[in-house]
Amino acid sequence: MNPGSRVYYTNVPGLCGSCHVKALTDFKMSSHYRNLMDKGVGPNCVTCHDAMWTKVLTPVEVEMFCTLCHNPRGRSLPDVGPLAKRVLERMAETERTLVQARGTVRGAAQSGLRTEKAEQLLALAATELSHCKGNWHTFRLSALCSRLDQVDDLVAKGLRDLNHSYNGLK
Ligand code: HEC
Ligand code: HEC
Ligand code: HEC
Repeated sequence: MNPGSRVYYTNVPGLCGSCHVKALTDFKMSSHYRNLMDKGVGPNCVTCHDAMWTKVLTPVEVEMFCTLCHNPRGRSLPDVGPLAKRVLERMAETERTLVQARGTVRGAAQSGLRTEKAEQLLALAATELSHCKGNWHTFRLSALCSRLDQVDDLVAKGLRDLNHSYNGLK
């Protein structure tokens, strides 16, 4: 209850953020943070992560958490829970596709195909994906969706390029 305490609810982001610097930097850009600081109604780190049981949430857990505040009875953004779940699932899917594509390219390189261009495209995709994941705490879900589209495009281009050099050989 003591506003001077480091675990007072508005001081929690600063406490966790002393180690999780990137999460805090992004969180500060969200309206969650502004609402927490100005009106005391936004979530802080512990709302979603708990204090002791700190782990990365699964998409289903995320949907549950978001829906605590964002639901048809609440005032704002009732669809955010399912959307957040979809974004997290897509991040995982895109990651799997990328890993698979990398395997395909490695195989092609071993059988003597030219894979430089495909490798470049997949490297770009990997960078973009890690930025996406890194920006999760901004909670700009539709922006994240379009960036995931870009990652998928890069992977598809990489595989197409590989097909071209394969056909070139035939
Ligand atoms: C003294 C530094 C420190 C503080 C303070 C701290 N953490 Fe961590 N946290 C860590 C380290 C180190 C890890 C392990 C990172 C790893 O394994 O890559 C971690 C892991 C996590 C993970 C799991 C990350 C993963 O990828 O599995 C979450 C979530 C997390 N912390 C949330 C929090 C929250 C919420 C708070 C505040 C209540 C907090 N942390 C405070 C250092 C800290
Ligand atoms: C509204 C809910 C919510 C709030 C508030 C929130 N997080 Fe998270 N956080 C998540 C979810 C969901 C994930 C899992 C994202 C993923 O799977 O990539 C996550 C992932 C993480 C991770 C692991 C991945 C990474 O980015 O390194 C850490 C560490 C973390 N959060 C720390 C924090 C800290 C520190 C705060 C407060 C400044 C905070 N979170 C606030 C929902 C939240
Ligand atoms: C403790 C309550 C609470 C929880 C839990 C919560 N939110 Fe929020 N959220 C708020 C409040 C309050 C606002 C600001 C209301 C507004 O702007 O109308 C907000 C605003 C938002 C916005 C508006 C975008 C912005 O930043 O301008 C998004 C997106 C959002 N939340 C996503 C999420 C997601 C995703 C989760 C779950 C991972 C989540 N919220 C969990 C209370 C919560």
